Amino acid sequence: VSLGSQPGESLVCLADAPIDVVTSLTERYGLLVVGNEHLTRPGFHLVLEPSGLFLQEGAGGKARVQVDFAAGANAHRRKFGGGLGQDIAKAVGVTGRFKPRVLDATAGLGRDSFVLGSLGCSVLACERHPVVAALLEDGLQRAARDPDTADIVGRITLKFGPATEFTESDMALRPEVVYLDPMFADDAKGSAQVKKDMQAFRTLVGADEDADDLLDWALSVARCRVVIKRGRKAAPLGNRAADYSITGKSNRFDVFSLSKVAPYVPSPG
Ligand SMILES: C[S@@+](CC[C@H](N)C(=O)[O-])C[C@H]1O[C@@H](n2cnc3c(N)ncnc32)[C@H](O)[C@@H]1O
Repeated sequence: VSLGSQPGESLVCLADAPIDVVTSLTERYGLLVVGNEHLTRPGFHLVLEPSGLFLQEGAGGKARVQVDFAAGANAHRRKFGGGLGQDIAKAVGVTGRFKPRVLDATAGLGRDSFVLGSLGCSVLACERHPVVAALLEDGLQRAARDPDTADIVGRITLKFGPATEFTESDMALRPEVVYLDPMFADDAKGSAQVKKDMQAFRTLVGADEDADDLLDWALSVARCRVVIKRGRKAAPLGNRAADYSITGKSNRFDVFSLSKVAPYVPSPG
C-alpha cells in the first residue's frame, strides 16, 4: 500500500516485529497491518523492523526516513550546535537561568523539539499526521533507552493530534512559548538541496494549508512569545509582521513578543 495514495493507513511489518509494538501502533494511529509484498509498489510505506520504524520508498527506491536522535544531524547538532548561542535559543528566549516551557505546535520529525529539549526546555510536541507522529514516537522511545539522549527526550512529551486542541486555560500551565514551523508550498527552506529522504516527508505531509490560522491561536495560548520558523526569504506567516526577526543562513525566526520570557508568578490576591 502506497502512503502516496492512502496516507497513514497501512503498516508493513517485517519478521520479528514485536507484537506489543504492532498493537500499540495500529491502535493509536489507526494503521492497518499489511504484508511486505506491498514494498514492491511505488510510493512510501511505513515499515516496522526490529531496529524501529521507517518511512521507506517502495519499488526498489532508496529513500528511507527514520527519526534517530542518537545519530546523524540530530546528534551532530546536540554536540556541536552552539548551545545558547543558536538562533533558535535566542528566538525562544532560553537563558542559563530560565528554560521556558515550549508548545511545539508543528513537531514533524522532532528536530526542533529535540534542540529545545537539549537546551533544557520542557516541550509539548504536537503532531497531527498519524505516520509522522508514529515515526516521532518511535524515535523518542529509542532515544529514551539511550543514556546520551534519555534526559533530553525525558523533557519532550508527544501529543498526537491538532495542536489547537490544546485548550489549557489554567495560566500556570500555559506554555511560555508557542513554536510554529508549518510546512508550506513555496517553502524556501533550502528547497534546492532537500535530500531525497526529506522529499519523502514532504510528499507525505504536503503543505499545511491552514497554517495562517495557527498564529491567532498561538497568540492566545502563549504566555510570553510566539516564535515562527520560516525560510530565510519567505513571507511572514499570514503576512503579519512580527515584532522582530532573527535571520540565519537558511532560516528566519519571526518573534511575536507578548511579555518578558520569565516564569509565571501569580498576581497577589
Ligand atoms: C515543517 S514540519 C515541522 C518540522 C519540525 N519543526 C522539525 O524540526 O522536524 C510541519 C509539521 O507540522 C504538522 N502540523 C501542521 N499543522 C499542525 C497542527 N495544527 N497541529 C499539529 N501538527 C501540525 C505537519 O503534519 C508536519 O508534520
